[in-house]
Amino acid sequence: MNKKILVTGGLGFIGSHTVVALQEKGFKVVIIDNLSNSSIDVLAGITKITGKEPEFERMDLRNKQEVKNFFQKYPDIEGVIHFAASKAVGESVENPLLYYENNLSTLVYILQELVERPKAHFIFSSSCTVYGQADNLPITENAPVKKAESPYGNTKQIGEEIIADTCKVHAGLKAISLRYFNPIGAHPSADIGELPIGTPQNLVPFITQTAIGKRKELSVFGDDYPTEDGTCIRDYIHVMDLARAHVVALQRLINGSEKSNYEVFNLGTGKGNSVLEVIKTFEESTGQRLPYKIAGRREGDVIAAYADTEKANKELGWKADLTLAEALQSAWKWQTVVEDKDL
Ligand code: WQD
Repeated sequence: MNKKILVTGGLGFIGSHTVVALQEKGFKVVIIDNLSNSSIDVLAGITKITGKEPEFERMDLRNKQEVKNFFQKYPDIEGVIHFAASKAVGESVENPLLYYENNLSTLVYILQELVERPKAHFIFSSSCTVYGQADNLPITENAPVKKAESPYGNTKQIGEEIIADTCKVHAGLKAISLRYFNPIGAHPSADIGELPIGTPQNLVPFITQTAIGKRKELSVFGDDYPTEDGTCIRDYIHVMDLARAHVVALQRLINGSEKSNYEVFNLGTGKGNSVLEVIKTFEESTGQRLPYKIAGRREGDVIAAYADTEKANKELGWKADLTLAEALQSAWKWQTVVEDKDL
C-alpha cells in the first residue's frame, strides 16, 4: 500500500519539486501550506506534471491545536518532510521574533505529534548557512557549526539541536537533517519553479528577472573578495537533484538503513562557482545577455562555500547529476513562462 507522506511548505520552491519526486516514486502526498510565500496555483502545476493531485490542507503550523487536529485526521502519515519556514536572511534580521516563532514553534508542534507514535520518519530542511564561513573547503558534515550570521541561520541551527535532543529520548523517531547549499533551477516542464515574492534576494532569480527585462541590471555584491575573480563562490545545486535527495533520505529511514536515529547530510554538487562564472554560464547556456554592475559587498556574505559530498554519495547513494548550465537553462525557461501565469 502506498505510504502517505506529509510535506509541509509543499507549495514552495523546493517543497513542490520534492512532492513531484515523491509522487513519481509512488508515495501519496498531503501538503500543508499557509500560502504566505507560495501560490495555490502550484498545486495545479504539480498535478499537471504527475497526473496526481496531492491532498492539500491550508493551515498555519503556528496553531498547535490545528497541528494536533491534522495528525488525528491523518493517522496514516508514515513520514514528514518539513520545509515550512521563513527563509529571507535580511528579513530575519529586521524581524527576529517572526523567525523564531514561525521556524521553531512549528517544528516543536510537529515533533510533539510524531513522538506520540511508535515510529516516525522526519526529514528536516536545513542549510549550509549553519557553517558560516567554514575554515576548510570543501565543507564536510563535521565542520563546526559557527555562530549564525542571522536569526534565519540561527533557526536552522536551533532546529537541528531540537531534533537531535528529541531523537536522543525517542528511539522511535528517526530523523535526517539535509543541509542544502544553493538550490537553483526549475522542473524541466516549467510547470513549477521558484516564485520569489517581491525583489528577489537570491542570485539566480534576480538574474532571470534581469534577463527578461523585469529588472534593469544585476548588482554583483563585491568583486574584491580573495577569490580568483574577486566574487563570492557558492555550490549551486539543481532543485531536481535536491528533490531526489529528499526521497532517497526518506527511503533510507523507511528501509531502516540509517546508522543512527539522527543523521545529517550536506546536499551540494561539490563544485564551487563564482558569481561572475554563474553570469557567464547563464549567458552562454541561454543566449541571453545579462546587464550587470559591480556593487558593494552584501553584509553577512561568506566568501566561499561548497560541499564535500562524500557522505551523501556513499551513505545515501545519491549524487547531484545535473550541471550548472542545465540548472540555469531550466531557471530561464521557467522565467519565460511564469510571466504569463498569474502566479
Ligand atoms: C549567492 C551569491 C551574493 C544576489 C542564501 C541563504 C541560504 C539559502 C540560499 C535559504 C552571493 C551574490 C546575490 C544579487 C549578488 N537560503 N548575489 N547579487 O546568500 O549564498 O544563500 O540563499 O535556504 O540559506 O543564506 O545565496 O543567492 O543570495 O547569493 O551578487 O543580487 O550571489 O553576494 O555571493 P546565499 P544568494
